[in-house]
Order: sequence, then C-alpha cells, then structure tokens
Amino acid sequence: MLRGKHILVGVTGGIAAYKVCYLVRELRKAGADVKVVMTEAATRFVSPLTFSALSGHDVASDLWTHQQSTSSDIGTQHIDLAYWADLFVIAPASANTIAKLTYGLSDNLLTIVALASRCPLVLAPTMDADMYINPVTQANVAKLRERGCFIVPAEEGEHASGLRGPGRLPETEAIIRFIVGVLDKSTQDLRGKKLLITAGPTYERIDPVRFVGNRSSGKMGFALATAAALRGAAVTLITGPAHLETPRNVTRVDVESAAQMHKAVGIHAKEADAIIMAAAVADYRPRAPARSKIKKGRDTESLMLALQKTPDILQSLGQKKARGQILVGFALETEHALRNAREKLRRKNLDLIVLNSLADKGAGFAADTNLVTIIDRKGNAEKLPLMSKFDVANEVLNRLGKLL
Ligand code: C5P
Repeated sequence: MLRGKHILVGVTGGIAAYKVCYLVRELRKAGADVKVVMTEAATRFVSPLTFSALSGHDVASDLWTHQQSTSSDIGTQHIDLAYWADLFVIAPASANTIAKLTYGLSDNLLTIVALASRCPLVLAPTMDADMYINPVTQANVAKLRERGCFIVPAEEGEHASGLRGPGRLPETEAIIRFIVGVLDKSTQDLRGKKLLITAGPTYERIDPVRFVGNRSSGKMGFALATAAALRGAAVTLITGPAHLETPRNVTRVDVESAAQMHKAVGIHAKEADAIIMAAAVADYRPRAPARSKIKKGRDTESLMLALQKTPDILQSLGQKKARGQILVGFALETEHALRNAREKLRRKNLDLIVLNSLADKGAGFAADTNLVTIIDRKGNAEKLPLMSKFDVANEVLNRLGKLL
C-alpha cells in the first residue's frame, strides 16, 4: 500500500518530535517516498539535518530562505509540496497548529501547505493532557474531523511533564496502520465523476419565525460528500439547515425548504453522473405560510395547520433520468421495511436504495453510526453491520462506482 506513495510528514514543536524520526524511517522502509516539512518550533526539538538524512530529501521549514535561492520557483514551493503529496500526515500536531488549521491561518510553510493541499490530511494531536482535554482543543479537533481530516486517536499515559492522561503520540506502527487505512479509503476511483449529493432536513415555513422540520442532522449526506471527494469525485452538496462543517474539496449549496432544494437540484442534476438523495425532504409543507407571526389568540385553544404535498424530487429525477445517470435514494421505514424499500426503488426508478431503520440502536438521525441494508435494481438486499456513517458512505460508493 505504501510502495511508491508520496508521503509528506509535517512536524510541529513538541517533545514527541523525536518519535517521528522512526516514523519517517519506517515509511521509507515500507517503500514510500517521504518528504518532511517542519515548523520553526519543531527544529528546536529535532534538527532538520536528522530528518533530511532519514528522508533522503531536503527538509523544508523556512518559507523565505528557499524562495530567495532561485528565481524560477519563487512562491511555488508550498504548491509544489501540496501537489506532490498523496497524503499529508502532521505528527506531532501541536495545539497551536491544530488551532491554525481550524481557522485557516497560514503563517509558516507547514500550515500553508496544509491549506493548499487536496490530498488526505492526517493529524496526530499530541500535547500535554490538560491542553488536550481543553474544550477549545477538542472543539477544534471536532471541526477538522467534520471537514474530513483524519484524526489519529491520541494515547493515554505519562507525559514528559509527569502528568498522566490523553495526548500522547501513538507508537510508529499504530500511525502507519492508520495511514494505510486512510490510503485505502482514498483510492481515486471516482476521479472525473460528478456527484450531486443532498443532505439534512428541510424547514417548511409556518410563519416568519416557525417551521415544520425533522430531526435529520445531515451527517449521512455529509459523510457521503466527504468520502466521495476523497475518492476524487467532483462533489456538489446541496444541504438543508445542518450545523456541520463543509467537507474539504466539496462545493456546498445551502437551502432551506423542499421547494428550494428541488430548484437547486434541478440546476445541478443534468451534469451529474450520479445523484444521491440523502436529504430528509419534507413530504408536506404548510399550505399558506403566514406573512407575519401568528399571534396566540386568547380564546384559541387549538389551531389547524393545513398541509400540502411537496414535490418528490427523487421521483421527478427518476422520471427524466439521463442515460447512464445513477440515482440513489434513502428510505426510512418503520413497517414492512424491505418490501416498501424495494417498491420505492421501482416507483422512483432508482439504481440503489439505502434502507435504514429507526428501530435499530445506533442507527438514524443524530448518530455517528448507521445500520443499513443496500438494495439494488435486481432486488438483492445486503444488510451491513453497524458501522460509522463514513464507512457506510464508502460501502454505498463502492456499489455506485461499479454502476458508473
Ligand atoms: O418516499 P420517501 O420520502 O420515503 O423517499 C425517501 C427518498 O426520497 C429519499 O432519498 C429522499 O431524499 C427522497 N425524497 C425526495 N423528495 C421528497 C421526499 C423524499 O427527493 N419530497
């Protein structure tokens, strides 16, 4: 898996930097071509000379010295490194660098390359336990994970300070295993394909301040977008109100209602090689939304809300499906699940339908995991074990890739 791969190793300032010498050596032994970029603080812990001897390449750390050496590559070193890498692993990733990456700060070569890179980004957060468990660090790490960065779980144990707790850099073998897993999930099998993915709930206006909505978090659709982008697809993500970070290398279109989603899908559908409707689109909307806030009437004990059907976006896509275009739908059924899902696949002219059941523990709206059955046009149903939504996304994409 590592043979011939271009692995860029980013080293930030921390005692654990010495362990990354072994990481560079082992990556090379496994056949990877390794380059190292360091922050200024990292060079206080381990000399660039060490990394240059271990990697067999010059070590980049200073943004300016290299730029002055020749005139032809002025201003392009960061882009060259970013494009060179098949994978960028930052280990140890300090609290400072994690915070910079979260907000897009780029005041040194390492963070500039991270910002410019499109390859998988792997971070090994490593710091003293108190810094690690600080809510600020945890929130930053969570944001980066939502955007599709891969986070190597830190180890617990004793730190150089004598403190005990999480935040230690895992052993070299564990990091290499993690890197191999990421490379495995980012094969470029969808390169050149255009994917349109919908996610999240829709909000249907009752009046200017109230709406009819549902509990969809958008996590499944966002996981699909993250996974597809990693596999090289050009992804457009049309999402209802979801409080999630936009995945890396994904074009996001925000909408609110079923009608807005219908319109946005209509604009992007024609050029899509595949469309995955993971959004929980409202089936009904208030027939006559009030122009101003509905007041509480003194004598009004009950209020009737007349609802009207929304257009079935997926069904209309199925009716005018272009040749070769692949359509994937989701279904959430509480009774006769398989039979209903198969019927839905036929009625909406889909190629695949992903069935998830609310009854199963760990499946459904806000969870990070999902338990699904994938059904194809022939009616074959494959029940997958409980797995993360990211892994479910890859299972769906594996099947979709075969149909494209
Ligand atoms: O018929 P049902 O709503 O259960 O079908 C679910 C599938 O249809 C999902 O893929 C969902 O995104 C899509 N859908 C749609 N437009 C609607 C309702 C559902 O595209 N108005």
